[in-house]
Amino acid sequence: MASGLSIAVVGATGAAGQMTLKILEERKFPMRELRAFASERSVGKTVTFRGEPVPIRRIEPGAFKGVDIAFCSAGSAQAKEYAPAIVKAGATVIDKSNAFRMDPEVPLVVPEINAHAARRHRGIVACPNCTTIVTVMPLKPLHDAGRLTRVIATSFQAVSGAGVNGIAELREQTLAWARGETIVPRHFPHPIAFNLIPAIDRFEPNGYTGEEMKLVNETRKILEAPELLIAPTTVRVPVFTSHSIAVTAETAVKITAARARDLFERFPGLKLWDDPAQHRYPMPVAVEGQDDCFVGRIREDLSSANGLSFWVVGDQLRKGAATNAVQIAELLARS
Ligand code: A2P
Repeated sequence: MASGLSIAVVGATGAAGQMTLKILEERKFPMRELRAFASERSVGKTVTFRGEPVPIRRIEPGAFKGVDIAFCSAGSAQAKEYAPAIVKAGATVIDKSNAFRMDPEVPLVVPEINAHAARRHRGIVACPNCTTIVTVMPLKPLHDAGRLTRVIATSFQAVSGAGVNGIAELREQTLAWARGETIVPRHFPHPIAFNLIPAIDRFEPNGYTGEEMKLVNETRKILEAPELLIAPTTVRVPVFTSHSIAVTAETAVKITAARARDLFERFPGLKLWDDPAQHRYPMPVAVEGQDDCFVGRIREDLSSANGLSFWVVGDQLRKGAATNAVQIAELLARS
């Protein structure tokens, strides 16, 4: 690690933090130093990077001196608490939480879509919500080709989107069910094994959940389409990794299924898996571990002249979190 940047990962023991370390390794991000941070209870433990143990440090004054880029995936409250001091210490923060996403001063970036926005940062760049990223990837080429007017999106979200506790809960409940024991929810409000929970995040006064409003507001900000009509439903499903979204998109200019296939195929970061006769369409278990988002089941909407329906799946710990964050860091490193 002799040359390159000094990198900090805050939340290094969590699901997104662990994946960030993996992606930094995989993409051979140029770095001379790694500083790993988590909560007080993890100080003294280690995480592994490039085969070496890296101690978890305490977040304290001076801890970020000399750091170039700090990845934060420790939650919104922690981001609000730590980010200003990290920026003051001279680092650029790439934050994975909801804390700053809708702040007009903070760019909200998916590098394939709005890399230009990252250049305007004032110390913090926000990484969108995982479901937003996977949904907006195929929406962008449709918007460019035919101008989106309305989007209906229903998500099927994996438990790892809720962090390490979400993963543990599905595993424990599945084992309990197999042993014939009673399932006791701890992390989610209801059993998640063999169930679907149509509520992610708190309910807002308009009847939508926080997760659903993130999808609306963040998609509008990323696409620079403040008037875009979006009808979201977000659902937690008993899948370990990868979020799937069923989307119907209406455009001002009609886009046929054939044209959509062509647009998706040519968009960076998207892969087309659309051969229903061969049972070929994206599924969470097939997509897990890959950085691209996969689109299939592309068909023209039977209920609206300019509507197009499709199914998109992305590994939300990768493109939905860590890969997107490391791609932002690559943009910053280049500039
Ligand atoms: P820890 O493992 O010490 O609790 P996940 O989203 O997978 O649940 O992970 C959350 C991450 O954020 C973990 O690395 C967790 O560390 C870290 N974290 C939680 N609370 C704090 C805090 N107050 N300060 C710093 N890191 C925190």
